[in-house]
Amino acid sequence: MDVLEAIKSRRSIRAFKNQDVPAEIVEELIDAARWAPSAGNIQPWEFIIVQKPKIKRKLVEAALGQMFIEGAPVVIVVCANEERSSQGYGVRGKTLYCLQDTAAAIQNIHLAAYSLGLGTCWVGAFREEETREILKIPRGMRPVAIIPVGYPAEAPTAWSRRPISQIVHYETF
Ligand SMILES: Cc1cc2nc3c(=O)[nH]c(=O)nc-3n(C[C@H](O)[C@H](O)[C@H](O)COP(=O)(O)O)c2cc1C
Repeated sequence: MDVLEAIKSRRSIRAFKNQDVPAEIVEELIDAARWAPSAGNIQPWEFIIVQKPKIKRKLVEAALGQMFIEGAPVVIVVCANEERSSQGYGVRGKTLYCLQDTAAAIQNIHLAAYSLGLGTCWVGAFREEETREILKIPRGMRPVAIIPVGYPAEAPTAWSRRPISQIVHYETF
């Protein structure tokens, strides 16, 4: 699939078919994620693959009751390894680069999934401490996104985007 087409036609999917996602496909998504750019090529991302219904149910609670998470056969939780980034770049690494790097990896997952016929949604509204406990995420790692992955059972229409003229500034702001 053409990259521009994927960027423009991907939509957040919040309803999934009752159909498993093969392990090789999940691996392909992680492979796409790890090719994202990162500051100093530090690659501060970590991925937790969740398939057990019991854990998914707990993630729904941590994510303020967003039930559709449970409906996905696979949930990928992306964490930023703040420790690794701060070793390279201090405070800027911990507070900025590791989040930028993981965001790039997350977007790669969304686009790769879409190109493979899968649906995903970037879930950012969740209680971090609760998520940390559920998934036994060690200190120094920050959960950044919960991504339910599955075959889409809906085809939402696109939300509008701000016009280019409103968001671009030439030469100075
Ligand atoms: C940082 C971030 C956090 C988000 N958190 C949530 C969320 O918690 N729940 C949800 O349903 N969608 C969430 N979304 C998805 C957005 O609502 C969605 O991307 C936006 O409305 C545009 O729709 P589209 O992805 O279909 O183009 C999040 C997206 C981003 C980038």
